[in-house]
Amino acid sequence: MTNDTWRNEYHLSPKSGRMNDPCGLCEFKGVYHFFYQLNPEWPDRKAPKCWGHATSTDLVTWKNLEPAIKPDSAFDANGAFSGSAIQHNGKLYLYYTGNVEEVGGHDHITDGRQSSVVMVSTADGRTFSSKKVVLRNADYPKECSCIVRDPKVWEKDGTLYMLLGARDRNNEGLALVYSSTDGISWKFSNSIRSDNPFGYMWEAPNRILLDGREFLAVCPQGLKEDLLKFENNYQAGYFWLSDPVPSTTMVDEATFNEWDHGFDFYTPQSFVDQQGRTILVGWLGVPGAGYGSRPDNPNGNPRFSGCLSVPRQLSLVCDEDGVDYIRQWPVSEVEALRGKAQSLRGGELALDGHHADIVLDHIDERAGSITLDDDLTFSFGNYRATLRFAEDATSSAGRTKRSCAMPENSIHSLRILVDETAVEVYVNDGMWVFSTRWFPTTSKLTISTDIDHSDASVYQLEHKNA
Ligand code: FRU
Repeated sequence: MTNDTWRNEYHLSPKSGRMNDPCGLCEFKGVYHFFYQLNPEWPDRKAPKCWGHATSTDLVTWKNLEPAIKPDSAFDANGAFSGSAIQHNGKLYLYYTGNVEEVGGHDHITDGRQSSVVMVSTADGRTFSSKKVVLRNADYPKECSCIVRDPKVWEKDGTLYMLLGARDRNNEGLALVYSSTDGISWKFSNSIRSDNPFGYMWEAPNRILLDGREFLAVCPQGLKEDLLKFENNYQAGYFWLSDPVPSTTMVDEATFNEWDHGFDFYTPQSFVDQQGRTILVGWLGVPGAGYGSRPDNPNGNPRFSGCLSVPRQLSLVCDEDGVDYIRQWPVSEVEALRGKAQSLRGGELALDGHHADIVLDHIDERAGSITLDDDLTFSFGNYRATLRFAEDATSSAGRTKRSCAMPENSIHSLRILVDETAVEVYVNDGMWVFSTRWFPTTSKLTISTDIDHSDASVYQLEHKNA
């Protein structure tokens, strides 16, 4: 295995170390800045996280820089955990969770953990100010445990708002809302809970505004699998809000939709870029999933681990039955990487390398399947779609299958992005998405399908990350 075995080209991954959540996503002064959770000491699992930092001007070519925030203070000694960025007064303000786990007989849930919100600013996106603690445990409502984290900040009508994810003392997940006029002093506004308990902790909360409608995205931990829903260890999805934040205090858990129905998509964060696009990016991984990112996994490169999804543009769309949903679609910059279109004549094609954009439009079949490398199959029919690894596929690194229920005869298009160790399947122009990591060992990507009635084009994607 070389240093660069399983190196993605357009999916952002760290130079070395292990990446998890995207943090502080933004476009600042014409440059995209993506920060992310990074354990630079990987495979030492216990080493504290810092904020890795990468920049781009096109969302597909990434330059990894030095970590932006290191856990070098008393209030973040056990990790500079996740958070977000906001532009304010010409500067970029970064808010993150300073995690401290006290030694000696604590459960680190109800006691022995400090979860502070810390702020750092930058005027140039390269040099960062000293740190300022703006909220600490004593500032959270009494019903909360000491697990409160992942500040997401935005501005509305001159006021700054912050969402925090929390676990209460009855082991129920909730989000906390704070407001501020200067970004430094924050006042508690209200909490947001579900009508019925919905998991024991809500990680990485996020507020999304699309066409005047607001959504609360959270990552609930502790949901039970339920008829082709919630098949992963933890979930990532969004609730429809009847009132905007901060007026909302309750959400209806029946409105919760999962962003992605594959194996690997967690703690997504959204931001609005200077073109006004609302862009969602998730970590292609799930904590504790038991596959893929373990140092002892023969299929993972131990030198670097984890990657982010491609940036997905969000839009609010109405389906044929008049039901609104959030569509996710790869930003158009991905298409600029396409080489010449090749056809899938006879249902088979082999490409050099695993970097492809596979498009099947105008599908006119009740059921069908498409397989990559004889290992990974996406199939649909019989009221469901499924992403499944062959039983003997070592590329799966322990993954098996994931499904999602859908109406019969409802699939009309598929787009599959392949990038060395990442596969993202977009169904019906982004109505449903299925993502997974995989670790292929062949030099060629083989594609085979029994979907005869469609317009199929396959593009090799040609690119090198900086
Ligand atoms: C989610 C998460 C966050 C936390 C971060 C630590 O994956 O647990 O809640 O801030 O990871 O890396």
